[in-house]
Amino acid sequence: MNPALTQIGAQMSNLTGVRAIMKDIIETLRAGAGQHFINLSAGNPVILPEVEQLWRDCTAQLLASSEYGEVVCRYGSSQGYAPLIDAIAKDFNRRYGLELSDRNILITPGSQSLYFYAANSFGGYTTSGELKQIVLPLSPDYTGYGGVCLVQEALIAYKPSLDIDAAAHKFKYRPDFSNLSITENTGCVIFSRPCNPTGNVLTDDEVKKIAALAAPLDVPVLIDSAYGPPFPALNFTEMTPIFGNNILHCMSLSKAGLPGERIGIAIGDEQLIQVLECFQTNACLHASRYGQAIAAYAINSGMLAEIAELVIRPFYQNKFTVVENTLDEAMPKDLPWLLHRGEGAIFAWLWLPDLPITDWELYQQLKQVGVIVVPGSTFFPGLQQEWEHKQQCVRISLTASDEEIVIGMQRLAKVVQQVYQCSVVSA
Ligand SMILES: Cc1ncc(COP(=O)(O)O)c(C=O)c1O
Repeated sequence: MNPALTQIGAQMSNLTGVRAIMKDIIETLRAGAGQHFINLSAGNPVILPEVEQLWRDCTAQLLASSEYGEVVCRYGSSQGYAPLIDAIAKDFNRRYGLELSDRNILITPGSQSLYFYAANSFGGYTTSGELKQIVLPLSPDYTGYGGVCLVQEALIAYKPSLDIDAAAHKFKYRPDFSNLSITENTGCVIFSRPCNPTGNVLTDDEVKKIAALAAPLDVPVLIDSAYGPPFPALNFTEMTPIFGNNILHCMSLSKAGLPGERIGIAIGDEQLIQVLECFQTNACLHASRYGQAIAAYAINSGMLAEIAELVIRPFYQNKFTVVENTLDEAMPKDLPWLLHRGEGAIFAWLWLPDLPITDWELYQQLKQVGVIVVPGSTFFPGLQQEWEHKQQCVRISLTASDEEIVIGMQRLAKVVQQVYQCSVVSA
């Protein structure tokens, strides 16, 4: 059957960004049956034994409790399961000195849905026909933002400025405030902190400055804290979650070991929360209550925050060190390679200035030596400007074993060296 699709139907049935690459990766892995690939493309978190045990224990607690029937056999409120909302309010009020009430919190089926609701509530055409933009203040950023808005022309991203330490082969993106435009045409602002794919953590001052630009215009700023503290606490550098009237602090339990249960959390102004809650009622009623109930146990006991800090964070931070040390040893010193500062998340981000081939071609060459990374150009949703940098980066996942990371980086170093050498020879 070949049904006629609407514009939205056609748009939404296309895979965007990294999801399109994932299809190629899955096909590569299937076609190469027998060949061992070092897969450094995954965004799926590693199943860490302590984390799995935590969710098992919380499940056992739920199964033994009298609330079990109420949790799984009945619909609930669109805003979320009350014990989870209470647990979050208590935890955040105590931890960050806030005064959250239950009306400041919304639970969604994963945080991706949250960005979909927000992007389409605040971005797109107003009733009077004006286009409200969804501003990504620092590109590259999460590829998933590319698919969230039904009005594609609403998405606009800004080129960053670059802090480069060439001698140390390190760099860091910073928002370019001389270029960033937040105006009455802005519907909302979104960025991830820590950032997928780069591991960048915008400083507290940078975040406050962005929020302050948006505040007088009543523009919501969504801070995607899928990797932030207190859980999964995948920040390797000091950072404070920033709250404020126009800030929607958005979280996810996916990297805290619960991606299958789809739990996203938004914390913010009551009116913003209400808009998103209504959107959710229309879209899907509510998130899974089983996941919400076990999350309430894990947060109330303090175990989720503890395991995040003591187990999840060190696991990925050590992996980043393995990438960094191996590249330092294996990459030729005279090549202009630059690794983004590893400030958080579960990825390393490598920039190869003046790369003689595209990131896509490099991805193909790495596949030839059994290494799979993600070409960086998929992480610039909304950035319309031509910028050669977009084709000079790759994302390296920190979810492989130490040994695989070492071998993968050594092979990458060899391929990169050959690529630059060939270009010198042919020139
Ligand atoms: C930065 C960022 N935001 C949001 C998401 C979506 O997460 P989920 O819908 O599982 O909460 C991801 C997933 O990888 C992510 O990396």
